Amino acid sequence: MQIIRTVAELRAWSRAAQGAGLSVGLVPTMGALHEGHLSLVRAAKADCGAVAASIFVNPTQFGPNEDFSKYPRTWNADCAMLEAEGVDVLFAPPPEEIYRSGASTFVEVAGLSDRLDGASRPGHFRGVATVVAKLFTAAEPDRAYFGQKDAAQVAVLRRMTADLDLPVEIAVCPIVREPDGLAMSSRNRYLSGTERRQSLVLSRALRAVEAAAASGERSADALIALASGEFASEPEVRVDYIALVDWATLAPACLAAPGTLFAVAAWLGTTRLIDNLVIA
Ligand code: PAJ
Repeated sequence: MQIIRTVAELRAWSRAAQGAGLSVGLVPTMGALHEGHLSLVRAAKADCGAVAASIFVNPTQFGPNEDFSKYPRTWNADCAMLEAEGVDVLFAPPPEEIYRSGASTFVEVAGLSDRLDGASRPGHFRGVATVVAKLFTAAEPDRAYFGQKDAAQVAVLRRMTADLDLPVEIAVCPIVREPDGLAMSSRNRYLSGTERRQSLVLSRALRAVEAAAASGERSADALIALASGEFASEPEVRVDYIALVDWATLAPACLAAPGTLFAVAAWLGTTRLIDNLVIA
């Protein structure tokens, strides 16, 4: 696996691969890799002749009081995992390669960026859209791989890609979970033993909603009340949002139609977790 630190080298690698007739897949990450990330890598390897993963803990998507400085950095383990998956290139730029001094351009996906996680984390999606746009222009991938786990992020990036006519296909992979149901996340390692047990309320609430929707319940109010009832069983878990939305616009939906997104976010101590399901 080749480790690349500069945009110019990444672009040269990608153009050489495409020149040799290979399609290029890109898997953007912030590292602290787990099976969720690796599922994206495997999807990219299955589809594309050349695969790059990136590790960049993007400062602009963290708020001033968020966990940027303590975000887990597990470089050696990450490299070993990507190498074992057969990734061709790991792009790991220093911050100044991505944000050059004097840079003042950001990508803002208006409307969507203020909803769900964007409402709780002002500026978060501006940082995400900006860094992903820069990764796309650096790697010029044919396909880029993202997880449904971050469903609002997917909506923002699909909108950005369409609006800017970026010639990249966005592939979305299913949520990978721990055996007990908790969605895998780099932030799960922040949880204490008690919080880890309490965290199961997120997936439990979603399973209750899924079962109710499968038996014909369509009302957003009823489904949200059902999920709230589950959260009430864990009073120490603080709900950030419980919402049924149109997955494309992130606008609230009154009815659970196929393809609408039921999303939850909650705080366990100082750790914020998210999870979701797409109505079948
Ligand atoms: P990060 O949180 O490292 O996640 C990288 C990718 O892995 C995202 O597309 C995310 O949705 C996916 N992912 C995380 N947990 C997953 C799980 N349990 N199952 C499936 N996929 C999962 O998301 C980011 O980084 C950043 O915002 C980034 C897009 C890299 C921009 O900085």
